[in-house]
Amino acid sequence: MLVEWKKEYELGHAGIDAQHRELFELTNQMAAARTADELKPLLMVLYKHTREHFQLEEGLMRDAGFPGLAEHAEYHNKLLLRLTDLSLKDHAAIDKLMVDWALRHTQFDDADAAAYIARR
Ligand SMILES: [Fe+2]
Ligand SMILES: [Fe+2]
Repeated sequence: MLVEWKKEYELGHAGIDAQHRELFELTNQMAAARTADELKPLLMVLYKHTREHFQLEEGLMRDAGFPGLAEHAEYHNKLLLRLTDLSLKDHAAIDKLMVDWALRHTQFDDADAAAYIARR
């Protein structure tokens, strides 16, 4: 297991929290995948998850007038680009990207945004 979900990771928005949990699960499934054939379908699920998740977060930030929206959306866009660029053979790069996303982006960037949204 690459990343372990903890209750304290919840940000207080049910939709975001459910999707972050799903991201952790996908991260672990991808880390356990040994071959490109195993990885491919998981990446497809991840693309779909990501599109839905970024739409939800960016919509909430927009509605709340979150001042950090542009910067946050830029990270999302960069992540999407890196996802499409990933080599299915470079497991270390995939793990690094997913850990940064699951543990750093959700717990710092998303936490800031969720706190702002909750106050509105
Ligand atoms: Fe997120
Ligand atoms: Fe985010």
